[in-house]
Amino acid sequence: MEDKHSIHLDFNNMMADTIGTEHGITEQELKALAQVASRYVNYLKEERSGGKLPFLDLPYQKNTATEIIKTANFFKGKFKNLVVVGIGGSALGNIATHTALNHPFHNILTDQERKGFPRVFVLDNIDPDRFSGLIDIVKPEETLFNFITKSGTTVETMAQFLIIVKRLRDKLGRDYKEHIITTTDSEKGTLREITRREGFRSFDIPSGVGGRYSVLTPVGLFSAAMSGVDIVSLLDGAAFMDKVCKSDNLWENPALMGAALYFLSHTKKYKNILVMMPYSNALGGVADWFCQLWAESLGKKFSLNNEVVHTGSTPVKAVGVVDQHSQLQLYMEGPYDKVITFLTIKRFSKEVSIVEGNDIESDLVYLKGHSLNNVMNAEFEGTRLALTEQRRPNCTITLDELSAFTLGQLFYLFELQTAYGGKFYNVNAFDQPGVEAGKINAFAMLGKKGFEQRKNEIDIHLQRVQKKYCI
Ligand code: PA5
Repeated sequence: MEDKHSIHLDFNNMMADTIGTEHGITEQELKALAQVASRYVNYLKEERSGGKLPFLDLPYQKNTATEIIKTANFFKGKFKNLVVVGIGGSALGNIATHTALNHPFHNILTDQERKGFPRVFVLDNIDPDRFSGLIDIVKPEETLFNFITKSGTTVETMAQFLIIVKRLRDKLGRDYKEHIITTTDSEKGTLREITRREGFRSFDIPSGVGGRYSVLTPVGLFSAAMSGVDIVSLLDGAAFMDKVCKSDNLWENPALMGAALYFLSHTKKYKNILVMMPYSNALGGVADWFCQLWAESLGKKFSLNNEVVHTGSTPVKAVGVVDQHSQLQLYMEGPYDKVITFLTIKRFSKEVSIVEGNDIESDLVYLKGHSLNNVMNAEFEGTRLALTEQRRPNCTITLDELSAFTLGQLFYLFELQTAYGGKFYNVNAFDQPGVEAGKINAFAMLGKKGFEQRKNEIDIHLQRVQKKYCI
């Protein structure tokens, strides 16, 4: 295995040996869970071989990668902008990959500096001001729109679809279709129907892969390939992590151990907040993506035995070092309700020396010979130590470097960890009934056919709600 490129989980500071038994997990607690954890690995293996967990096999879908690369090559140089329109699992993986692997200011580089790859924008929210702002700056003739929706009906995505299609038609006439590519279910949904009827270029989202597990399908891979990301390495990284996580021994399987640690610290030590804190701006999108994955998968009312459990821990994003100057005070001295996961990169792609050619003021002389890299690392180590001294549980995932290969590993690690989380919590990690409820209410309130009864219920509810508590 290419160990030097792999990622590492250090959970010493989660353990009672380091932070005491009140907040730390004991080896006995882990050992007590080891047998059942190993059973979960085998359940997952069975479900996988029975075709129930297709997201686990995505790293091996090389034909899909070939088709995507072919399409991206066909488009190369033709468009200045790629606008992805999707929300939730149909957007966050795109943002995570783009933020992690492309130039931090990709969209304001010149065409030449971007080497012909388009600028990448993601329209997830339907905030009218943000939408209009983007539409103001992307000319239809220079823009390719990728509409992504697994269900093919999501109101945010489809509302934007209607506006954009009209605008493209008005400006470009019959050529407008060349500016659209859809990514949706192969069979079902309104967007699939429209795609068939209009003959849009299109990718299928493999059946059985839900939105938040779809970053390694065309949902996430197309925009990545379009902006120059090596998607084969991304998939290879994920396949590598699949092998790393094969063992049914808790101590040898980082995805299983990660899930066990979060589960134990939640259920035994009452840490119901999971802070995902990358010391890297580039990994900020991964933190957002993880938050959705963990929240939507494990925040559930019913267990698999249909008992009301209202379970799940709350993931929160923080970014080092910025949030040292915002959230850290709370993490250090506030309630003992958090686990902090640091994401760090050993070798940033740039080394930025602080003092080259500078005359140094005497009280800044301690910075002499250092780089921003050293300062970042000192701040991370200092924060980690300070939290540990306060007996605040924390663990660290270290990437040797940030590349398509290590990002693929990280995606796979977190997805598998979340699936194991479903086993530990005994909930369905692959549905989202709470999200569906919101979607149904929105359809009813907007007057969609088939939702009339719900509309009546909502009207009655709204009439009953008293307005006496508004200021
Ligand atoms: O993970 C999920 O399933 C959700 O977050 C969906 O991705 C989100 O609700 C958007 O749904 P769709 O892709 O059907 O438009």
